[in-house]
Amino acid sequence: MAKVLVTRRQFEDQMDRLRAEAETVVLTRAAPATREELLEAVKGCTGIFAHINDRIDAAVMDASGESLKVIAEFGVGYDNIDTSAASERNIAVGNTPGVLTETAADFAFALIQAAGRRLAESDRFVRRGEWKWFEPLDLLGLDINGSTLGIIGMGRIGSSVARRATASGMNVVYFNRNRAKDELGARRTGSLDELLAESDFVTVHCPLTPETQGLIGTEQFQRMRSHAVLVNTARGPIVDTDALAEGLRTGEIAYAALDVTDPEPIPTGHPLLEMENVTLLPHIASATVGTRKKMSQMTVDNILAALHGKLPPNCVNGESITWG
Ligand code: DGY
Repeated sequence: MAKVLVTRRQFEDQMDRLRAEAETVVLTRAAPATREELLEAVKGCTGIFAHINDRIDAAVMDASGESLKVIAEFGVGYDNIDTSAASERNIAVGNTPGVLTETAADFAFALIQAAGRRLAESDRFVRRGEWKWFEPLDLLGLDINGSTLGIIGMGRIGSSVARRATASGMNVVYFNRNRAKDELGARRTGSLDELLAESDFVTVHCPLTPETQGLIGTEQFQRMRSHAVLVNTARGPIVDTDALAEGLRTGEIAYAALDVTDPEPIPTGHPLLEMENVTLLPHIASATVGTRKKMSQMTVDNILAALHGKLPPNCVNGESITWG
C-alpha cells in the first residue's frame, strides 16, 4: 500500500479519502515537524501533503526513497518546495490555485481598511483603559475613498483586490511584469519606484521568487510617502523586515499591516511587536472554513491522482513529469 505523509492536522473527511487508498500518517503535534522529524517521517512515502513552513528540498525528497511521486502543497504559493529538484526526480508538485482568490482578496482589502483607520491600534487603546473622553484629534486615520492604492503583482489576487478598491472609490495603480488581462480601471506604472511614490496604500500580491525576495527594502521605503500604509499578505521575505522596522520607526512610512513576516512567526522580543503602527496577523488570509476545506480537498485530489498514475489536476511542473 502507498504511504502518504500529512504534515499537520487536516479535515478528517479528507484524511478518510486518503486512508481509503494509502497508509496515511498525520503529524498531529502542535508545532511543525523539526527537520530531523521530517526526514524520518518521509521515509517510504509516495505522497507528501505539505504546508507552507515545511521546507521540502532535495534532501527531504531523497530521504523518502525512490517511491515519492507527488508533493501536494496546501496553498497556492509553493516557494517552500524546490520544484527544480522535484522535476529532476520526476516528482509532481501540486498546489491549490483559484480556490482562495476571493477569500485572500477580501482579507487583503480588510487589512487595507483596518490599517488606514488604525483599528487594531484603537482596539488596544480601549483595552488599555486609555479611552477617557472624546478627543477630536486622536487616532486620525487615512481615507480609503479617494486614496491611491498601489498593487504589486496584478495576478488573480491582485486583480480581485483592484476590483474591491475601485468599488470603494480608490484610484488604483499596479506594477506587474506584464499588462494585466483585465486592468479593471487600474493604471500600470512604468516602474516600482513610480508606484511607491504615488501610492497612499501599497499592497503586495506577487509570488516569492529569487527576483522578488527583498523587493521592498530601505531604498523603497525612502521612496514611499510618509503617510503611506504597507500591506503584505503575500510572503514575508518580499519585504526586508529590518528595513521596514526602521522605516516605521523613522517615519518614512506611517503604518504596516502584515499577515506574513520574515521570519514567520515573528520572534518574541522583535522590535515590530513593540510598535503601535503595525498590525501583525498569523498568516490567515485564506483561513475561512469554506476555503480551507476546498484547499484540503484539492490537495487530496492532487495526491490521489498521482497514486492512480495520473498527473495532479493542479500540477506546477507537469511538463517535466514523464509518468501520468
Ligand atoms: C497560500 O495559499 O499560498 C497561502 O499563503 C497559504 O500558504
